[in-house]
Amino acid sequence: MALIAPSILAADFGRLSEEVKAVEEAGADWIHVDVMDGHFVPNITMGPDVVGALKRATSLPLDVHLMIEQPAHYLEAFAGAGADYITVHQEAVEDLDDAFAQIDKCGCKPGVAINPGTQVETVSPFIREASLILVMSVNPGFGAQTFMPVALPKLELLAGLKKREQSSCLLEVDGGIKTDNVSKVLEAGVDVVVAGSAVFGSSDYAATISAMRHAA
Ligand code: DX5
Ligand code: ZN
Repeated sequence: MALIAPSILAADFGRLSEEVKAVEEAGADWIHVDVMDGHFVPNITMGPDVVGALKRATSLPLDVHLMIEQPAHYLEAFAGAGADYITVHQEAVEDLDDAFAQIDKCGCKPGVAINPGTQVETVSPFIREASLILVMSVNPGFGAQTFMPVALPKLELLAGLKKREQSSCLLEVDGGIKTDNVSKVLEAGVDVVVAGSAVFGSSDYAATISAMRHAA
């Protein structure tokens, strides 16, 4: 059964703690926190202080997705604010082993994300070191974009590798996931589904989360 991680990028920023409590109540497994710096992606969202506020609002794991340049400079701040998973972009770091070691040292679980245009072979060798591999199914920066099927073969390859390597790495997909396409990523072997506008744009969070979870 896949985990459902609503992305608060699509939530009402004027009522973030209420929104987070509402999706927790509605059965969400994780909270996906989209951090953007206006350099790595053409948008600016939130920083460690917001993660700290979210930590006070929910007991769900905080899945922090760093769409920022030089993420190593901010790992301690996000870890100290209460991040559980910290995911850096393969395109933004020189040395993934070093990034994972630093995230580990901060007491968080290390993740790596790849954009739709990035080869899955850039991260598949890390299937044992990483706690999470995030396959983007949209170009990062904004919610409510259209799902890009290029993510599917990447997820299939990683799911097969994970089995062969007996790895506990979680495979996550992020971007354009709706109740009517989530079955494709579940069949491809994903463990965690990020959904922003599908959840926060719906009138019944619990029904949407449940429909996603049982779509396989
Ligand atoms: C995009 C973010 C995604 C996005 C998902 O840069 O990483 O997490 O918020 O939003 P939806 O589910 O609306 O595509
Ligand atoms: Zn994200």
